[in-house]
Amino acid sequence: MAEKKQLRIGMIGAGGIASAMHLPGWSKIDEAEVVAVADVSQKQLDAVKNGFGITKTYHDFTEMLANENLDAVDICAPNKIHPPAALAALEAGCHVLCEKPLAVSTDDVRRIGKSADAKGLKLMTAQHMRYTSSAMAIRNWVEDNRLGKVYHAKVFATRQARLPISPGFINSELSGGGPCMDIGVHALDMAMWLMDFPTPSRVMGTSKVNFARGYKIPGAWGEWDRNLFSVEDFAAGFIKFRNGATLSIETSWLGHHLEEESFSCELLGMKGGVRWPSTEFCATSNGSFMNGKLKIPASSDVPHHAEIRDFVDCILNDTPSPVPWTETIKVIAILEGIYASQKTGRNVVIAGKSVPK
Ligand SMILES: NC(=O)c1ccc[n+]([C@@H]2O[C@H](COP(=O)([O-])OP(=O)(O)OC[C@H]3O[C@@H](n4cnc5c(N)ncnc54)[C@H](O)[C@@H]3O)[C@@H](O)[C@H]2O)c1
Repeated sequence: MAEKKQLRIGMIGAGGIASAMHLPGWSKIDEAEVVAVADVSQKQLDAVKNGFGITKTYHDFTEMLANENLDAVDICAPNKIHPPAALAALEAGCHVLCEKPLAVSTDDVRRIGKSADAKGLKLMTAQHMRYTSSAMAIRNWVEDNRLGKVYHAKVFATRQARLPISPGFINSELSGGGPCMDIGVHALDMAMWLMDFPTPSRVMGTSKVNFARGYKIPGAWGEWDRNLFSVEDFAAGFIKFRNGATLSIETSWLGHHLEEESFSCELLGMKGGVRWPSTEFCATSNGSFMNGKLKIPASSDVPHHAEIRDFVDCILNDTPSPVPWTETIKVIAILEGIYASQKTGRNVVIAGKSVPK
């Protein structure tokens, strides 16, 4: 008889990222088993049945939660499903790993976070980029106090023509945002993590549709429904933090950027500066500048799989969530502030009570 695994996992959403990364990641974990999957699409359910041998399938995640006596769920559905799915899972007593963004509003992040805290359950946002070798090498260097106090960060998540074409990304009813919420969230989380999550106080931002409703730039990933396109294709912002630091961010799916894709952040500190993911750094010693590149340790681990491993470990060892909602809420406050600033044309004040210090 096959050995019974310690943790029963349910998957909510069985599309691209679930099939490409999460399900293969879960299959490497000895202590856990994905026993059931919920997806509104029969095609996707058939695909995971055939590809991963998961026979318990549901169209409605609430039925899966009621029937399967799960220990944890992994949410890989479109962004707008994250809050109802996370809240229902927590209500059913499950720990939650949720794809980014955990929610597209600070109100929803707080609601989900408080529910997890009240129930003593683990809640982790799936920020897999923290598990890349370059990010870990930079984080170790920062923890060695090589950067000093960060006074400014530059964050880029820009693409010339890589616009994701599925409704889950371009229809604001499903995604709640364009490149800000899709890719800006990754690079911004990285910068904030390396800065030790300062509290944002003001945001000035812009979010626009420059090209995606017209035909000027052909998408590298195929055609999309122009009528359904209801998010931004470009956004930028300037953020002030309560500790005096500042951050600029640019994010785009379509535009005349010089590089096909640029995913990076650069941190300027009082002792040094560093760029992710290149790991190039600059420091001063005895009055002269020294430039270099950090050594990146070789790793065969897939970042998404390392993230799942860390989630399982925090459940089994009862340690804090590796990516807690109190960090995520600061990232979402900034992205939400960019949209609010576009609407009002003003600089948005992030109220003290809306994000933890
Ligand atoms: N971290 C990463 O590298 C990464 C990459 C891509 C996507 N994502 C995130 O993962 C999530 C899913 O993205 P994707 O690319 O897999 O999208 P996708 O469209 O390929 O898959 C989403 C799946 O969710 C299903 N779904 C829709 N509504 C549902 C519901 N109510 N209940 C259950 N299932 C439902 C859809 O049928 C689909 O199969 C998004 O939040 C996205 O931001 C993360």
